[in-house]
Amino acid sequence: MNRENKNNVKIINKNKINLKLNNIVKMVKRNKNMAKLQAGYLFPEINKRKKEFLQRNPDAKIISLGIGDTTEPLTPHITKALSDAAARLGTDEGYSGYGDEQGLTELREKIASKIYNSKVSGEEVFVSDGAKPDIGRLQLLFGDDAAIALQDPAYPVYIDSSVMLGKTGNYNNKNQFDNIIYMPCTPENDFFPDLEKIGKADIIFFCSPNNPTGAAATKEQLQQLVDYAKKNSSIIIFDAAYSEYINDENLPKTIFEIEGAKEVAIEVNSFSKPIGFTGVRLGWTVVPNELKFDDGSLVREDWNRIMTTIFNGASNISQKGALAALDDKGLQEMRETVSYYLENAKIIRTALQELGYDTYGGDNSPYIWTRIKGMKSWEAFDNMLNKANIVTTPGIGFGQSGEGFLRFSSFGHRKDIEEAVKRLKLHLK
Ligand code: MLT
Repeated sequence: MNRENKNNVKIINKNKINLKLNNIVKMVKRNKNMAKLQAGYLFPEINKRKKEFLQRNPDAKIISLGIGDTTEPLTPHITKALSDAAARLGTDEGYSGYGDEQGLTELREKIASKIYNSKVSGEEVFVSDGAKPDIGRLQLLFGDDAAIALQDPAYPVYIDSSVMLGKTGNYNNKNQFDNIIYMPCTPENDFFPDLEKIGKADIIFFCSPNNPTGAAATKEQLQQLVDYAKKNSSIIIFDAAYSEYINDENLPKTIFEIEGAKEVAIEVNSFSKPIGFTGVRLGWTVVPNELKFDDGSLVREDWNRIMTTIFNGASNISQKGALAALDDKGLQEMRETVSYYLENAKIIRTALQELGYDTYGGDNSPYIWTRIKGMKSWEAFDNMLNKANIVTTPGIGFGQSGEGFLRFSSFGHRKDIEEAVKRLKLHLK
C-alpha cells in the first residue's frame, strides 16, 4: 500500500471511530442563536477582503478609512500618567491588585462632574473596559421577551448581541431578524425615526452622533425619544461614544441633557475615540438611580450585580490615564485630538461633495456617510478598493437601510487623508 492509500485508510478509520463515539456520547449542543447569525462580524470580514486584495496586489498602498480606529499617538500628558501608574505597580508601596468592579471612585466622580456637568452622580457611573463590551453585557439586564428597537443602519453590536442572547427570532426573507423593530434612519427622514410607526418597544438602542451615518440628533429629537420612552415604559440605551465630536453647541452631548431622561435612559460612552484608548481600553456606563423595572427595583442594582459578577474592574493603569485626560490639560489635549480628526472629516467630506456625491455627517462626527449612486454597498466597497486602494465600510453591513452607502472614517494620519482625497479625485470623477 502506498503512503497516500495508507493515510486514506487512517482517515476512514478515524471517521468510523468518530461516528461510533457520536452514537454513544452525545456532543454538546451549539447555542442555537449563534446559528442565526448570518455572517462573521463586519470588521473582520472587511479585513479579510483587504488581505485577499493585498495577496493579489502585494504592492498596493492601501489607505484604511474603514474601521473607526484611532491613529494618532496618545498625548504626552496621558502617556506620562499611564507610565507613572505602571511604574508604581512595580513598587511595594504602589502595588495594587483588584480594584472596585465599578471603577475608581475618583474617576467615577470626575466623569460625573467633567462629562455630565454633575447631572449624574459618581455612584451612577460604572467604569468598564469599553462601550462595546458594556453593550453586550447590558443585554443581560432584560428578559428574552423584551421587544428591541434599533436604528437602521446601526452599529452591528446591538443586533448581533441581541441575536446571541436569544432576543430575536430567525433571519427572515427581508434580510432582517424577526421580533426586532427596525427604525429606518435615512436622509429622507433626517436620520431620525418616525416613532409613531414603531409600536411598543421595550428597549431602544440609539446612537448619537450616529455610527455609521454621522447624524447628530437635536434636543427636540431626543426629547421626542424620551417622551416616547416615558409613554411606553421603554428603556433607551443611548450610545454616546462619539459625543466629544459634537462641535455645534446647540446639539446635546448626552441624553441626560434632556428633561426626564434619567427615568428612562442608560448611557454608554468611551475614552476610545476622544483620546485614542481603542487599544488601552476604557469606557463607562451611566445607570441613573431613577431608572426602575416594572417591579420597582432599581436597574442600577442589577447592573451592579452583573458587573461585580462577570467583570473584575477596568485596568488600574488605564483608569489613571483617564483621570489625566479629565484634568484641565487633558481636556485641552482631548479637544485638540478631536479637532484633528474633525479636520480630516472635513477634508474627506468636501472632496466627496465636490465630486458630486450625496454626503452626510462629518461635521459633528468622525464618520462620513455617502450614497454611491448605481452601486450596491459591497460593489462600491470593492470598486473603491480596486480603483483607489482605499478601504471603506459598506453601508449594508450596518443594516438594510445602509444599502447603497459607504462609510468613510476620518481616523487617519493627515498625509494619508490627503493622499486618499487625491486618489478619490483621480479615480472617482
Ligand atoms: C466602527 O468602526 O464602527 C467602530 O470603530 C468599531 C468599534 O468601535 O467597535
